[in-house]
Amino acid sequence: MIIVSGIQPSGNLHLGNYFGAVQQFIQLIEEGHTCYYFLANYHALTTMRDGARLRELTRSTAADYLALGLDPARCAIYLQSDMPEVCELQWFLTCQTPMGLLERCHAYKDKIQQGIPADHGLFAYPVLMAADILIVRANRVPVGQDQKQHVEVTRDIAGYFNNCYGELFTIPEPYIPESVATVPGRDGRKMSKSYNNTIELFAKEEDVRQQIFSIVTDSASVAEPKDPDCSVLYSILKLFCDAEGCAYWADRFRSGGLSYREVKQAIFERYMERFGPARERRRQLESRPDYVDEVLRKGVEQARKAAQPLMKQVRDAVGIPTN
Ligand code: TRP
Repeated sequence: MIIVSGIQPSGNLHLGNYFGAVQQFIQLIEEGHTCYYFLANYHALTTMRDGARLRELTRSTAADYLALGLDPARCAIYLQSDMPEVCELQWFLTCQTPMGLLERCHAYKDKIQQGIPADHGLFAYPVLMAADILIVRANRVPVGQDQKQHVEVTRDIAGYFNNCYGELFTIPEPYIPESVATVPGRDGRKMSKSYNNTIELFAKEEDVRQQIFSIVTDSASVAEPKDPDCSVLYSILKLFCDAEGCAYWADRFRSGGLSYREVKQAIFERYMERFGPARERRRQLESRPDYVDEVLRKGVEQARKAAQPLMKQVRDAVGIPTN
């Protein structure tokens, strides 16, 4: 299987990113698939207008993913902008994309509703995403629910192109395993940077502690029995527990005599146990920018090796001379 996914370099990764995405990325590598993971810095331009900040975030997000265990020896990690074939393909796809297909996209409509100006980049975003996916002939695209429609748009565009020019593109499928938890944030809504309710992966230890200790609870006393299924604390703790651990804590909630403080402390300890090694690797990467550059250089080399023969076929098919 060929897997591809793009990561927006938006910085400050949190538990939701880890359990909702990074963990699947790693699992797919471990299952032995050919995996392409790239930093979608062209996509970031649709919302970010500060060049220095984008440059810095792109580099630090790459280091974050490496620290979390995306192994560059077993997958290709690269910057979208290092692959010129992507933008070229985007144009070929643009010429096969009906306006109506893009006008129906929820992500675009939501952003317009939020008052973000309707520029062409925002509108064309799914076509760029289609180019990212089709260029490496991916079969599967691990994404969050919010991106599922964009993969469907990719399928449609690839279908129009194939109908017109012959079967050049592989039709990809979105991959959203059922086991992927929607991670609740500190306030109980979905964990998201835009709600300011995250528990970050690489924040300073005091800040992480503060974030964990500010998870919402109700006013039940220590003695009272509590329903774990109504507790944000329990849903977050569960992320770190196996079946046995979950049963133990559910029972402790129901029996009464459990303080929320103790649960928060347990989350904090499990968090440190789980992410301690990644946090240490992240610190070490700070002093090895050359290593990160080298990983990205090798990654794009591998991705372009897959992309270039396909691009030659695509150019031939549409009638653009190849030199
Ligand atoms: N749009 C995706 C997001 O915001 C990022 C992305 C860009 C992507 N290109 C992709 C994801 C290709 C999967 C495949 O999360």
